[in-house]
Amino acid sequence: MSDSDDDVTPLSAATLAALQQFYIESAAPDAAAAASQDRFAVGAVGEDWRMSQFWYDDETATRLAEELIHEAGDGGRIACVSAPSVYQKLKQGVVDGSERVSAVVLEFDRRFASYGDDFVFYDYREPLALPGALRGAFDVVLADPPYLALDCLTSVAQTLTFLSKGKVLLCTGAIMEEHARNLLGLRKCDFLPKHKNNLANQFCCFANYPSRLLSC
Ligand SMILES: C[S@@+](CC[C@H](N)C(=O)[O-])C[C@H]1O[C@@H](n2cnc3c(N)ncnc32)[C@H](O)[C@@H]1O
Repeated sequence: MSDSDDDVTPLSAATLAALQQFYIESAAPDAAAAASQDRFAVGAVGEDWRMSQFWYDDETATRLAEELIHEAGDGGRIACVSAPSVYQKLKQGVVDGSERVSAVVLEFDRRFASYGDDFVFYDYREPLALPGALRGAFDVVLADPPYLALDCLTSVAQTLTFLSKGKVLLCTGAIMEEHARNLLGLRKCDFLPKHKNNLANQFCCFANYPSRLLSC
């Protein structure tokens, strides 16, 4: 047997990458977890007002994530429609029970495609241009449409009806209350969503099921 360098079998690139990841995680497990949390932090993708993007504050994203987890139940599926902050909060690993549900984000902004298979491109102007496998696939669905306009909410309502098994939560301007009731049978909650940057419009949350957010 020789111990010369010529006898060393080279490792494949994939094996080397796996080894490197193993060393990083075993040397600094907290750092690896923190990096993963940062990726899903609310605001990790910056607001772009040209797409009507106004992110929730951390407390609101957490409260909505808790509500969705509670309503989805163990093994439940959640869809966040034009509400990426809540998707991020569900994936950040900081809300109790989030490991027991799955979540997807339907978004127009392709920067969220960095979340891989959880990202579904969505344009409310084509409300049903969605994969057939998503029909009736979600135990609970949350939406926060980009515009306070009847045509926008009418389209989003079509999408929510397509995706949902029944439970719908909607965050939008208070002025949309009557349309939300007529289109989806939604009732206004006591819970008031808040944003990182204050909005001029009064903002509300609506539910079509006996949500804990209705009176709180
Ligand atoms: C009022 S914001 C709601 C965001 C929510 N407050 C959050 O923190 O996650 C509207 C959302 O609609 C998305 N959006 C913009 N244009 C859209 C379109 N044509 N179709 C669907 N969604 C769109 C924006 O990217 C943004 O995430």
